[in-house]
Amino acid sequence: MYEAEIFKISVTNAMGCGQQKGYTETYRGADVEVTLLKKIRIEIAVTEEYVKKTTDAIIKGAKSGNIGDGKIFITNIEECIRIRTEETGREAIG
Ligand SMILES: Nc1ncnc2c1ncn2[C@@H]1O[C@H](COP(=O)(O)OP(=O)(O)OP(=O)(O)O)[C@@H](O)[C@H]1O
Ligand SMILES: [Mg+2]
Repeated sequence: MYEAEIFKISVTNAMGCGQQKGYTETYRGADVEVTLLKKIRIEIAVTEEYVKKTTDAIIKGAKSGNIGDGKIFITNIEECIRIRTEETGREAIG
């Protein structure tokens, strides 16, 4: 991400499962279904022209070709306000 000059980022510990629905583990001889796996959630707000650059950088860093590499969801942001300066929109996302 730093290589692609993407510095503004939020990272949260998360639990989740994708299309493999977790996995089965043996604990003291009993099969236990582990449906939620530890994941991290990354949130990055960018202006329109940075979307491709950002998704390319994520794919470059995260793709191993194996299951569980993660997923990118792209959504629109209604508004962004930098509280300190009250700037809005692209200046605030900046
Ligand atoms: N449709 C979805 N809705 C909400 N969260 C999802 C969705 N798909 C994936 N996730 C979240 O993303 C995490 C990583 O997903 P993952 O990479 O396993 O996707 P996948 O669809 O199972 O693809 P793959 O087959 O490559 O593993 C999941 O553990 C879950 O937290
Ligand atoms: Mg998966």
